[in-house]
Amino acid sequence: MRVGILGSGLMGGKLGTLFARAGHEVIFSYARNKEKLNRLAHDAGGKARAGIPREAASGADVLLLAVHWSRIDDVLKQAGDLSGKVIVSCSLPLNIANTELVIGYTTSGAEELAKKVPGAEVVSAFNNIPSEVLFGVGEARGKAPPPSMVYCGDKQRGKHIAATLIRGVGFNPIDAGPLRIARYTEPFALLVAALAYGGKEGPELAYRFERFGKQESKL
Ligand SMILES: NC(=O)c1ccc[n+]([C@@H]2O[C@H](COP(=O)([O-])OP(=O)(O)OC[C@H]3O[C@@H](n4cnc5c(N)ncnc54)[C@H](OP(=O)(O)O)[C@@H]3O)[C@@H](O)[C@H]2O)c1
Repeated sequence: MRVGILGSGLMGGKLGTLFARAGHEVIFSYARNKEKLNRLAHDAGGKARAGIPREAASGADVLLLAVHWSRIDDVLKQAGDLSGKVIVSCSLPLNIANTELVIGYTTSGAEELAKKVPGAEVVSAFNNIPSEVLFGVGEARGKAPPPSMVYCGDKQRGKHIAATLIRGVGFNPIDAGPLRIARYTEPFALLVAALAYGGKEGPELAYRFERFGKQESKL
């Protein structure tokens, strides 16, 4: 697929690199300096290149939105018309200090994002995983049971694309349901971050959901 990266920081830089290594055509965009985008594209190899957000969006099968909540309006404006596009967003609706959600309970960042781009299909994914684990999970592919990653969205096409990207970087995609489920997954992302950065094991944390209770109980 052609994947446009809108926001090439910790998440966008690493995920874009992994997407490129998985064989996708990646365009890195939206950083404060062009050299960084060029370097990312060079290091990612494959069919990766650097561009401006409008280039990343045009012709993309899917866009990864990976900017701080305060930059959403700016990057969307720079990306131009996103009608018909699938936007996989890992952006969390956090305050500037990244300590609190600024939206929650009755809506979510993902749902508010969807209102800003009514013609696009928004999927919420990749936001409940610390960026530090991404390369390690990619390298462990096939050698260890894949950790889970929940995602949610309202339309099947976008969800299918998100699940393909998630699987391609070594996670087991867990369809959590419609986009409004982001009301629960976004706070969950803060729990994961608190455990990853506050726990004894440091940031090396990913999680697995075990299936139970769906079969007749043996107890
Ligand atoms: N980091 C994580 O582990 C993690 C995990 C889950 C979810 N998230 C969420 O994912 C989103 C992205 O997080 P992140 O950690 O990847 O953030 P980040 O490292 O700060 O990356 C944001 C990107 O936006 C760019 N940017 C910021 N201001 C800009 C401006 N004025 N003009 C052009 N580009 C600008 C940055 O440029 P520079 O590269 O030049 O700084 C960077 O490339 C956030 O919503 C965060 O809450 C993060």
